[in-house]
Amino acid sequence: MSGFTWVTQLIYVAAAACFVLGLHLMNNPASARRGNQISTGGMVIAVATTFAIIVHAGLISATGWAVMIAGALIGGGAGLYVARTVQMTAMPQLVSVFNAVGGGAAALVAIHDYVNLAGASAGVPEATTVTTLLDVLIGAVTFSGSIIAAGKLQGLINASPVQFPGSRAVNIAMAVIGIGAAIYLIVTPSVGVLIIVIVAALVFGVTMVMPIGGADMPVVISLLNAFTGTAVAMAGFVIGNWALIIAGALVGASGGILTKLMADAMNRSLRNIMIGGFGTGDAQVAVAGPAGDVRSTTADDAAIQLAYAQKVIIVPGYGLAAAQAQHQAAELAKVLEEHGVEVSYAIHPVAGRMPGHMNVLLAEANVPYPQLKEMDEINPEFPRADVALVVGANDVTNPAARRPGTAISGMPILDVDNAKTIIVIKRSMGHGYAGIDNELYTNPKTSMFFADAKSALTELTAAVKTLVG
Ligand code: TAP
Repeated sequence: MSGFTWVTQLIYVAAAACFVLGLHLMNNPASARRGNQISTGGMVIAVATTFAIIVHAGLISATGWAVMIAGALIGGGAGLYVARTVQMTAMPQLVSVFNAVGGGAAALVAIHDYVNLAGASAGVPEATTVTTLLDVLIGAVTFSGSIIAAGKLQGLINASPVQFPGSRAVNIAMAVIGIGAAIYLIVTPSVGVLIIVIVAALVFGVTMVMPIGGADMPVVISLLNAFTGTAVAMAGFVIGNWALIIAGALVGASGGILTKLMADAMNRSLRNIMIGGFGTGDAQVAVAGPAGDVRSTTADDAAIQLAYAQKVIIVPGYGLAAAQAQHQAAELAKVLEEHGVEVSYAIHPVAGRMPGHMNVLLAEANVPYPQLKEMDEINPEFPRADVALVVGANDVTNPAARRPGTAISGMPILDVDNAKTIIVIKRSMGHGYAGIDNELYTNPKTSMFFADAKSALTELTAAVKTLVG
């Protein structure tokens, strides 16, 4: 190995260390920003080193450089623009588009490599072929699956589970054709058969994601994210780039772990999610509601409860995210705190539709990190809370989870019903994601404030301000 190669390999190891350190720092909201910066630094080092290797080897013509730089500028510029302008509630579809781009790019690397090798020699080395074919298969499935997922979340494609007679058979047929053709290619190189592999994988990506419902998409996106990482790691093997292998493996492993954590926190198996199940929880539907009396309240009455409380716990859920009411929640908390009320936020791991959704939204509204309390930390505090203010959260507060035989049985919940009084802001008696009644709403301690989260919080803040002068 030449001195230059040694140095570049060592720099790749340093870049990989940045990725690992960055991921570690992302464990905590207070250090997450620094973690992101360190990971970005690692990626800049890895890209610069790769450029240095290309220059050193004299591999690329002037036209090649022009194409590469133009591609980097256009892609980087577009990525920067959408990442800076995206609404927090549109984050899942952006991640999905990034997955599509990553998986597609990884597949293209392998396709290029395969076509070159097939043209250059009669036989293709087996090791290269296996990683190349895995790269093509996983990358193409990720590409088409992620585009469908993004389309569903953006409302461009029907967000509910879409199935047609025989759709599962088509799915299985595509998997068998794709894998069968890939195995054939290991023995006999053929660009024609490679095209069959690509088409089968692309169709499989579509038929895999179409039957999955809107609210299950975050888990699917996390799974596709794991696929992207795996495809990128395979691309690293194809072109012999260690930084790519390590970065891809980290994304693959963390995406896989996240998928498992999300499925566990929803108390559902991945198989159950992939088959499709619950509704999306997005539509405002008329339902009879749970048996028992429901007491409704007004902004003025709720404001009195809040203003005279010593301790208030705000419980944000998907409805707060959908209404984009994080700033209004933070404003109400600020007014209450100025009046001497102790305010904290109870964060359930799957409140909302994305992991970390609530933390990110509330951080965007400049809510101080110490006020955000994880479920295990906040649950013992509910008995001391004068008011639990539930904003657009439903399933994560449903006591039905504590007994067997319901769609959410076994799901850990926020013990909101232990608070002295409970105010629930939502638009109707509509169900949440799991599609079941919430017994909290008929609890004698609960009053329902039926309104959109944003307008309800604005009204409440104004009413509290009037009360406290
Ligand atoms: P949900 O149980 O889905 O309930 C959200 C509630 O918000 C609905 O009942 C809805 O009632 C209300 N809502 C909707 N728009 C609103 C608006 N503009 N203003 C006020 N309220 C509004 O939410 P949750 O308690 O946060 O639970 C999350 C659910 O999603 C869990 O079942 C979880 O398993 C699932 N899930 C989570 C994830 C992750 S990783 N976070 C991923 C996939 C699935 P109205 O229609 O009556 O207003």
